[in-house]
Amino acid sequence: MAMLNVNIDHVATIRQARMVDEPNPVWAAVECELAGANGITMHLREDLRHIQKRDVEIVRQTAGVMLNFEMAMAEPVVRFAVKLKPKLATLVPEKRRELTTEGGLDCVKQKIRLKSVTQRLHKAGIGVSAFVTPDPKQITAAADAGCDAIELHTGMYANARSDQKIAKCLRDLEKGRDLGWQHGLIVHAGHGLNYRNIGPVAQIEGLSEFNIGHSIIARSVFVGIRQATAEMIKLIDKFSGQFLNE
Ligand code: PXP
Repeated sequence: MAMLNVNIDHVATIRQARMVDEPNPVWAAVECELAGANGITMHLREDLRHIQKRDVEIVRQTAGVMLNFEMAMAEPVVRFAVKLKPKLATLVPEKRRELTTEGGLDCVKQKIRLKSVTQRLHKAGIGVSAFVTPDPKQITAAADAGCDAIELHTGMYANARSDQKIAKCLRDLEKGRDLGWQHGLIVHAGHGLNYRNIGPVAQIEGLSEFNIGHSIIARSVFVGIRQATAEMIKLIDKFSGQFLNE
């Protein structure tokens, strides 16, 4: 059954808007855990615009569920990850001026760096996932570099407006999953997923984890993060469980 990792970066975004000490992402992690989340995802951006090192360290030390540490392959972040030892590191591209992670990691162009970072993370006992578009070349390069998993970028699906485009994006995700499996990779998915569009993606058999942030934090403003998380888990379970009942 597919599982949810809640990306709590936006809790820190609100805090950093005032440079104060609330809301505390560590509390958010506890609430997500109490709601039944599989894990907590945190992205320590190089510009430290939301999550701070201390936030990740405390969640790593206190959370009962797994930490998925989202990170660029920049040297200071790699060194930090090796010390932090999260269960999983998801490697993403990072640009200073973007609002959020825009594209997938270019595993083809950065294969040498990806291989060396993956080896260092593995040596520290950390699982490695690469955030990629469902492009066969990228998936194969991630596998060749030694990654354990890929996270398929669902942003194109989330942005698709016509039924035709949506169907094409879903087919691409399925093909990406198949190729990932052929390479022995675990296949996750995330970006742009919300309460309205999660259904068809959760129905894709074998996607094992979803990383969802913005929509859950947005809903939390009205219903609280524990309920917002629980509602998303319920949807994922409902849709991903469907094929089991067929
Ligand atoms: N997965 C990755 C690799 C991401 O970079 C992000 C955004 O930080 C997410 C998932 C979550 O995306 P969203 O906030 O749109 O749910």
